[in-house]
Amino acid sequence: MAKTHSTFFCKSCGASSAKWVGKCPACGEWNTYIEEVVHKEKEDFKSTWKKEGIVTSRKPILLTHVEQGNEIRIPLKDQELARVLGGGLVPGSVVLIGGEPGIGKSTLLLQVALQFKDFKVLYISGEESETQIKMRADRIPFNNENCFLFTETSTQKIGKAFKELQPDLVVVDSIQTLQSDLIDSTPGSISQIKETAGDMIRFAKETGTPVFLIGHITKDGTLAGPKLLEHMVDTVLQFEGDRHHVYRILRSTKNRFGSTNEIGIYEMQSGGLREVSNPSEILISQREEALSGVSISATLEGMRPLLIETQALVSAAVYGTPQRNSNGYDAKRLNMLLAILEKKCGLRMGTQDVFVNIAGGLRIEDPGIDLSIVASIVSSYESMPVDSKICFVGEVGLSGEIRAVSRIEQRISEAEKLGFKTVYLSKFNKLPKSKTSLKIVEVSKLDEMLGFLFG
Ligand code: TYD
Ligand code: MG
Repeated sequence: MAKTHSTFFCKSCGASSAKWVGKCPACGEWNTYIEEVVHKEKEDFKSTWKKEGIVTSRKPILLTHVEQGNEIRIPLKDQELARVLGGGLVPGSVVLIGGEPGIGKSTLLLQVALQFKDFKVLYISGEESETQIKMRADRIPFNNENCFLFTETSTQKIGKAFKELQPDLVVVDSIQTLQSDLIDSTPGSISQIKETAGDMIRFAKETGTPVFLIGHITKDGTLAGPKLLEHMVDTVLQFEGDRHHVYRILRSTKNRFGSTNEIGIYEMQSGGLREVSNPSEILISQREEALSGVSISATLEGMRPLLIETQALVSAAVYGTPQRNSNGYDAKRLNMLLAILEKKCGLRMGTQDVFVNIAGGLRIEDPGIDLSIVASIVSSYESMPVDSKICFVGEVGLSGEIRAVSRIEQRISEAEKLGFKTVYLSKFNKLPKSKTSLKIVEVSKLDEMLGFLFG
């Protein structure tokens, strides 16, 4: 048995050092070094699955001699995932999917595994038993006769399974549960994640098999894995949403084979995740009468235009310090908008509790939603409803000016498709009037817009 020794790893970037250091020389972070016991034996993961013929030679090669990649992509049944990946799955690519517990990562990938009809899929789970996975699979309306389950965490044993089974697609649930027998530290530790992810990536690259890795993240980000993993894998997807709501967004934060601007939207149903190809229609709640505190924003999620309902409740504060609460919208930005309303529009927001919510449990980062948030707040404050055929798009600046947003044509054509009649936008968003049948109200200042809306 080899001698054991400790190594120190940086939680942030994964750099290692023989001694503890206060500041990581690689990434400059402070207090990120933790100690882990490591001992490596000579045997290599690779030798367990290596098979003549599938391992490519490793020699320097002239760039001009590299064969032109004619973009082979494995088509996916799941159009949302295909879009986020940049048009399909690239052979040999490693895709990491991160997300909070219970958001639906295992469901999504099991669904993908079952959708590949003619593929030999190996679903490796270190988290759940075969029966648990079977129960989940029974809820999903897809079936793949060639889907193999393997509840194993040792990469050496997994390597043997790769050799025996020669899978066409591999799903690992999750990378934090894998362990290499060559390292003593516990699964989920930095050295284990580095080693096991390295093993999976080597397998993918050398056999051309696409591999999906599920990665855990925690709110405070104590788990070093995904941060460090992000550098190693080809694509990083984030599965987000509010666990108590049904909508989920799949977003790519890194993609070596496509743009990171695309998103996929899903709805969690009793029978698995349903692709939502027309999100706007479901995100706007059906209402019969006009309600105050509600307005619609023409926003963008990634590259997709999306009409979304913003809701606000403004009521007289009962405690000394008024409450501000925001769901799905940046709380700091909300405070900024309230300060602008107070200072530039003369509304007494300092004595009011303000609650803001984005319908459907989505989180919107697009600043173009500001105008609609303001309209909702003032509508609730004045108890005057906003016409349901009006939508808003514009970013609000610190002096109350309304600024232009990107991709205005797309946002407006989506609004037009959904039957809106009027759009409020920034004067600086130059848009030829002939391009749309919507009535366009150009505004440059917040008080000017509030004057139009609430008189
Ligand atoms: P899961 O995929 O286990 O989440 P993760 O792997 O990210 O931790 O899914 C978690 C939730 O999804 C669980 O609370 C139950 C729900 N769910 C459904 O609502 N419908 C379904 O068909 C399935 C399979 C799960
Ligand atoms: Mg899971």
